[in-house]
Amino acid sequence: MANLGRIAAAITGTLLLAAQVSALAIGSAEVAQDGPAALTRRADPSLTGYLGAFFLGADPYVYFYLSNGNDPTSFRALNRAAPVLRPTKGTGGVRDPAVVQGGGAAEAGRKWYLVGTDLDIGKTNWDAAQRTGSRGILVWESADLVRWTGERLVVVEDETAGMVWAPEAIWDPSRTSDPSHTGNPSTIRIRYAHTADFKTFTRPQTYIDKSPTNVIDLTILPLDDDAGNGNGGQSFLRFMKDETRKTVFVEVSTTGLFGTWTRPGGDAAVIQSGVEGPAAYWDNRVDGKAHLLLDFYGADGYRPYESTRPGNNGGGAWAASSRGGFPSNLRHGSVLPINATLYGALEARWG
Ligand SMILES: *[C@@H]1O[C@H](CO)[C@@H](O)[C@H](O)[C@H]1NC(C)=O
Repeated sequence: MANLGRIAAAITGTLLLAAQVSALAIGSAEVAQDGPAALTRRADPSLTGYLGAFFLGADPYVYFYLSNGNDPTSFRALNRAAPVLRPTKGTGGVRDPAVVQGGGAAEAGRKWYLVGTDLDIGKTNWDAAQRTGSRGILVWESADLVRWTGERLVVVEDETAGMVWAPEAIWDPSRTSDPSHTGNPSTIRIRYAHTADFKTFTRPQTYIDKSPTNVIDLTILPLDDDAGNGNGGQSFLRFMKDETRKTVFVEVSTTGLFGTWTRPGGDAAVIQSGVEGPAAYWDNRVDGKAHLLLDFYGADGYRPYESTRPGNNGGGAWAASSRGGFPSNLRHGSVLPINATLYGALEARWG
């Protein structure tokens, strides 16, 4: 396990005892003027499309969407708009699906995982789910994005936590151990664990704690060309929802996933209000251009936004994209840039 670090699950949990809070610098210490200007992610000409994985409001299953050509904001439903995956374990429902690449020499380009929240809200209610909800996440794996096997419900938190929701995974170049102190047990914070195989996990620890503000729905975008793929890059963006104020904002680190994160524009700066479930991905063709799906949960679900200065909140950094080719009512999920082989295989299988 030594070199196989991975932030397995950004776990939003309510911790009761001795919540482990890491020694992270948390946002407010510094106010950056602007994102790191020197860092521009290079577009990758080998990538020719996008695979989206989402759930739909009343239907907590995994639905796949394929981009129309290499257009980052135009998608069509695969499998005749029927689910591609329906859980047989846990609550039988899955939300917040994220397709993540395996990492390291053994898995890069050969294995993908699909992780999601184990929750069918139709069988419970939000209050009960938050207090006694699932402590595990649903996981599938695939060697080609087409055949998904090995469904499992993996329990990552003990019984002092509830609400292990909205998992997110990214290659972590530097594992760390964290000193601890006790946090406010009722605040919703983001926890993490490391895994090499999505079967066993290290003991979860707190990753983001903004008590008394609740934070949920983390998504991480590698910022420099080497970040997020095991090559040692240290610059990342992370998007999350302030669940107290119902806003989505971005933070920047140039010192790794466990380095110093700053919130450009300051503590009140946001990308958008009244949204949740941010899903970020780089444009395949334009250097340094990022896309961000924001779930207008009070309206018609995801709407696409775009930016060439994605490490910024406000200040006109993010603009709504054209919605002409973007389906309505998609809910919290993820988008994976893919190459022509994978695009062709998905199209052939699910058309
Ligand atoms: C696309 O990626 C897959 C998986 O890594 C690889 O096997 C395939 O050769 C790639 N195809 C192209 C056209 O680059």
